[in-house]
Amino acid sequence: MSELEQLDKVIDQADNELAEINDLNELQQRKANYLGKKGIIAQAMANMRDLTVEARKEIGMRSNKIKQALEEKFEAKRKAIEDAIINKKLQSEAIDVTLPGVNIPVGGIHPLNQIIMELEDLYIGMGYTVAEGPEIETDENCFEKLNLPKGHPARDMQDKFYINPELLLRSQTSPVQVRTMLEKNGKPIKIICPGKVYRRDADDATHSHQFMQCEGLVLGKNITLADLKGALLEMAKKMFGEEREIRLRPSFFPFTEPSVEVDVSCGLCGGKGCNTCKQTGWIEVLGAGMVNDNVLRMSGYDPNEIQGFAFGIGVERITMLKYRIDDIRNFYTNDVRFLNQFKEVK
Ligand code: DAH
Repeated sequence: MSELEQLDKVIDQADNELAEINDLNELQQRKANYLGKKGIIAQAMANMRDLTVEARKEIGMRSNKIKQALEEKFEAKRKAIEDAIINKKLQSEAIDVTLPGVNIPVGGIHPLNQIIMELEDLYIGMGYTVAEGPEIETDENCFEKLNLPKGHPARDMQDKFYINPELLLRSQTSPVQVRTMLEKNGKPIKIICPGKVYRRDADDATHSHQFMQCEGLVLGKNITLADLKGALLEMAKKMFGEEREIRLRPSFFPFTEPSVEVDVSCGLCGGKGCNTCKQTGWIEVLGAGMVNDNVLRMSGYDPNEIQGFAFGIGVERITMLKYRIDDIRNFYTNDVRFLNQFKEVK
């Protein structure tokens, strides 16, 4: 076979090979066989040295044409393979917008946080601001400055978690009263403080070693027990319904004088008496009172100038009453069947 005939065959051979190739790497290799430095075309060119001028011219022109044709064929194939890859990818990533969506379960706001948000809404609406304090508190803020010196018998009203003799996990939110008074330095105050508290109680249906309170403190000129009653009546109506009433009973807290226990009229029997209210028609919901003069003085307030009231709402207590929950542990054991019931509640 002459050199020319051989060259003509190259195109057919390349066509056959190209038809079989689907892979870019392989294509690259095959291309090198034809068009590379040691490829078929380069070989043909090299062999021309021994030929006549005429023949060299002819074969030179022919090889250039073939080279060009091969380059075009390999380039076309490369494009075809790349297009195929892209199409395959597009197909596999195609989204069928008519398919039903995937249902992603969404959490809800914990019932205790819902109640705290409601309390915040209510009291902010009455001009209060929300204060915060640390959960690790000093003995001084938690007790001493609340008129409970070391060794005072009323300290036994709460079992506490001490970290060292001067630090404890706060057993009440009342120390935030002290912190705020020290900060406000004799000026009027109107705050609530929701937050976690800790007590060394064995957990049962009505006790939890960790629970939540919402403290309130209002200090100003000429503030009376009637103002306290008004602030708490609003809360009872908002939380339990417009028809509810409250009553104040004398009690004792070292940080208030006089101190009161506050009851809300029973919503189940409307005050007639039932099992929930132990036939009294009333349910106890919180402690409160007029801030003790000693407490005011210890934090830089002059009781002759400024007086006020304080209260401490048990957040679990009112949540349990509002939703008739009979075991406080439900709030802390994270059973989604329990929690899901509060998803829609705002
Ligand atoms: N700190 C009290 C407790 O945990 C509740 C309380 C009672 C808070 C009377 C007050 C208050 O601010 O005036 O039992």
